[in-house]
Amino acid sequence: MKKPMPSLLLATLGAISAACLLAACRPAPQKDAPAAPAAYLAGAYAPTLKHQPSVAAMTAMGRAMFFEPSLSVSGKLACASCHSPEHAYGPPNALAVQLGGPELKDAGTRAAPSLRYIQNAPAFTEHYHDDDGDDSVDAGPTGGRNWDGRAQSGHEQALAPLLSPREMGNRDGAAVVAKLRAGPLAAQFRQTYGDDIFEQPDQALRWALMSLEVFQESPADFYPYTSKYDAFLRKQASLSPQETRGLALFNDENKGNCASCHISRISPGGAFPQFTDYGLINIGVPRNASLPANGDPAYFDLGLCGPDRTDLTEHKEYCGSFKTPSLRNVALRKVFFHNGSFDSLEQVLRFYVQRDTAPQKWYPKDKNGKVRKYNDMPPGMEANVNVEAPFDRQPGQAPALNEREIADVIAFLHTLTDGYRPAPAAH
Ligand code: HEC
Ligand code: HEC
Repeated sequence: MKKPMPSLLLATLGAISAACLLAACRPAPQKDAPAAPAAYLAGAYAPTLKHQPSVAAMTAMGRAMFFEPSLSVSGKLACASCHSPEHAYGPPNALAVQLGGPELKDAGTRAAPSLRYIQNAPAFTEHYHDDDGDDSVDAGPTGGRNWDGRAQSGHEQALAPLLSPREMGNRDGAAVVAKLRAGPLAAQFRQTYGDDIFEQPDQALRWALMSLEVFQESPADFYPYTSKYDAFLRKQASLSPQETRGLALFNDENKGNCASCHISRISPGGAFPQFTDYGLINIGVPRNASLPANGDPAYFDLGLCGPDRTDLTEHKEYCGSFKTPSLRNVALRKVFFHNGSFDSLEQVLRFYVQRDTAPQKWYPKDKNGKVRKYNDMPPGMEANVNVEAPFDRQPGQAPALNEREIADVIAFLHTLTDGYRPAPAAH
């Protein structure tokens, strides 16, 4: 894992091309226009303005935009509507998927993730080699933004919800800029990026997205490391006996084995754990029949192999893989997994340990009365599903965790919520 880096350092190192981002907002080239823009313009983080804003000004701009509903076609939906600061920038409600579009009636297809602790997610790669451990091991598809890793950076990601017809619903980048220009943030935007910024709509869009990215890298908001577990790692707090048992079960390779994907230890380089290795894995989450998209029995959200992502559709072995989320602040969530198919941590934990010992509890029967395991994928893809502990059991065997142990793991998960205040010492 990479150590946390201040955003602008990361920014200058950013090797990510903004070509697609710029392509989305540049008007169609004219016949006599030069064939390609100067190469330096493709560098997302390269300064392209006369007026160089400070990080503080960009953060403030991004924060204001994040909470600004007038940037949506409904006039009612802001980034913060689905990514609420009181919920670690995750969803504020118990809806499996959020509603957007012109009248806030269009359902998404995936649960809104928390935006905390994704600052170190590496760019997506099919073959990840960890630079902090044994780097000869190919950990497979890893990183990127979104449940399927399809966005490569914060600024690239930020355009998607602004344009998605099921979210903020703008027709194109120009429409976003027009809203910004006509809305309550116009003066602040000019102050931040220069009086003439709106005369260059492609630059205005680029810096609007950069503002959102820089805000989302603000440490106090997005990676505060203020949980009880962080205090424990700093040796400023001790875990209760139940939390201690939960941590041990979480780490134990023969019990929860959770830490094999949701990393819980300080890295060899000294970075605090993010509770994810950013890997894209298929754990066979059941279909959520309540999602409008799933009303069509032929529709399957297969994550890494599509449909939202289109570059790896030929890789059938990737179908059903979704990015391992951080478990920091997971106790603040009311829906779990990419399709929001579970609504309590108890259920999630029972699914993990009983998926293979009692599959009939989690999956429906087919027309021959046989349990159809992994029913959120077309048949024939069963081999894609992870079968390591706690998924290494047979029907009828004892689950890897019993009910008391499940309660212990959940007690531990509650120590991952930010904002821990130690009880005042007794005198
Ligand atoms: C209608 C609800 C909704 C709104 C509004 C919304 N998002 Fe999201 N956001 C989601 C969902 C759902 C996902 C997961 C998408 C996926 O995996 O395909 C997501 C994913 C993300 C991610 C990726 C997180 C990760 O784990 O990689 C980021 C970053 C993000 N949103 C930022 C924003 C920003 C910035 C805005 C405003 C410009 C915004 N969102 C508006 C619902 C929303
Ligand atoms: C093989 C890797 C792996 C192991 C082992 C694993 N997880 Fe996960 N976890 C994932 C992936 C991948 C997802 C997302 C799956 C999806 O949505 O399709 C996930 C999702 C979750 C979620 C939902 C979080 C959210 O934001 O919706 C919770 C809670 C969770 N895991 C807890 C645990 C616990 C507790 C254990 C140990 C009992 C565990 N996991 C073991 C990979 C793993």
